[in-house]
Amino acid sequence: MNAVLRLWPALPRATVPAELFGHFAEHLGRCIYEGVWVGRQRRIPHQEGLRLDVVAALAQLRAPVVRWPGGCFADDYHWRDGVGPQDQRPRTANLWWRQIEPNTFGTPEFLRFCEAVGAAPCLCVNVGSGSPREARDWVEYCNFPGDSTLAEMRAKDGRPEPWGVSRWGVGNENWGCGGNYTGSDYAKDYLRFATYMRAMSPEIQLHACGASFGDYKQPVQNNWNHDFCQALAGHDLVDYICLHRYFKRGRAVSFSDAEYLALFGDVLAMEKDLELTDAVLRYYFPDRDVRIAVDEWGVWHPEATVENGLEQPHTLRDALLAAAILHLFIRWTPRVAMANIAQTVNVLQCLAMTEGARMFLTPTYHVFDMMRPHRGARVVTLETDVPEFETRPVGFARKEPVPYLDACASISGRKVHLTVANKSLEDAVEAHIVPREAAIASVTGKILYADDPRQTNDYETPSRITAKRIRPVLTGEEFVHTFPPHSFTALTITLS
Ligand code: AHR
Repeated sequence: MNAVLRLWPALPRATVPAELFGHFAEHLGRCIYEGVWVGRQRRIPHQEGLRLDVVAALAQLRAPVVRWPGGCFADDYHWRDGVGPQDQRPRTANLWWRQIEPNTFGTPEFLRFCEAVGAAPCLCVNVGSGSPREARDWVEYCNFPGDSTLAEMRAKDGRPEPWGVSRWGVGNENWGCGGNYTGSDYAKDYLRFATYMRAMSPEIQLHACGASFGDYKQPVQNNWNHDFCQALAGHDLVDYICLHRYFKRGRAVSFSDAEYLALFGDVLAMEKDLELTDAVLRYYFPDRDVRIAVDEWGVWHPEATVENGLEQPHTLRDALLAAAILHLFIRWTPRVAMANIAQTVNVLQCLAMTEGARMFLTPTYHVFDMMRPHRGARVVTLETDVPEFETRPVGFARKEPVPYLDACASISGRKVHLTVANKSLEDAVEAHIVPREAAIASVTGKILYADDPRQTNDYETPSRITAKRIRPVLTGEEFVHTFPPHSFTALTITLS
């Protein structure tokens, strides 16, 4: 197959926020306990209880933001259970994920984890079973610079100066596990929570729960953003509206060829979520810069169940889907300004898996790593002439065309960063890459590839799928590059 990718580096657009490449860590399965926190007694290398291999992997990735403590867990979490001396913290029932919560990992441990990784924290407060008072107190504990009892509590937990947490989620999936609200009832409670949280710390950014459209058949979901934004329109109390979407087509590894392609078609459903939300934001906040945060996204295969702590195998197909979704978010900059893959370690589409002292990085980790140059660069307009396949995205009435090559470009200085996923199962795509009003001096690159997109990384072969260097060839003025089937390529094109 053949394709043309035309780049317009002289017309750069918005800057790509690093926060599009964010993470989500919930008290669920082995994400926090085992994945992030191993305690001080264990023989697993750690720094004050935080496992060092995971911290190093996320620091290497320059993880920009981590959302915590949930998820559904957040609306049943009482933050006071997780502060103070660890041996005096209560053991509580983790309702949604059917575990005992020892509370040894609480606010001070999470904020130290973020500091060790170099990431900004995003704390999600309890709306469903909590109160505005509890939420406002949590802000005080984290951010208050004065001499209050809560600030003193923070100092006793090892942090005299404020943590300065700037991102706060006001509940999670409040149309479901977060209290089964309607959009307008949530809006009433949101206003109460947001009023006191903002008054406590005026510089904080507030994230509101938005819809998770699924297959667009549920009236509550379809009306949620509308009803919420209508109630909030006269107030300056919402900075982000949060969307969630999970992807599933067939089993994790033994998917059919049709399911392989259908997964990529569902990127269009994610785009439709953005379009629907964007329209509501434009209507109700025409003069305000309310952004979208997709603060949970990723593949959720049938293998991941509550019983196994939502653990699933990690294939190259998952990594290619991640690339296509991250490209979509970049194209939607600046409206989409934060996104968090679910979840960081051991759960769903994680970036690392751990077992005792062993750890491996998933193929998705390598996509995040290869896409790092986009962060802080400016989006470059890309015209594509690419072969397509057809598939019916979830919730769509008919089949839609989906390009085999999924590409995205950005520029920093003289370097154009071009990332390309070839979604074809069998065919390589030979692409003419043509910069307009510019000439290419040199090209370097990396590729993520395996013989079969069903291949995985695992404890036995942790580096089966890992980024390899490639040497693209320039012939005179022409740059023709062949993208192998089911591969992800990152090219750095230096302009002369
Ligand atoms: O990521 C797992 C769960 O999925 C989260 O707790 C919830 O917000 C979503 O439904």
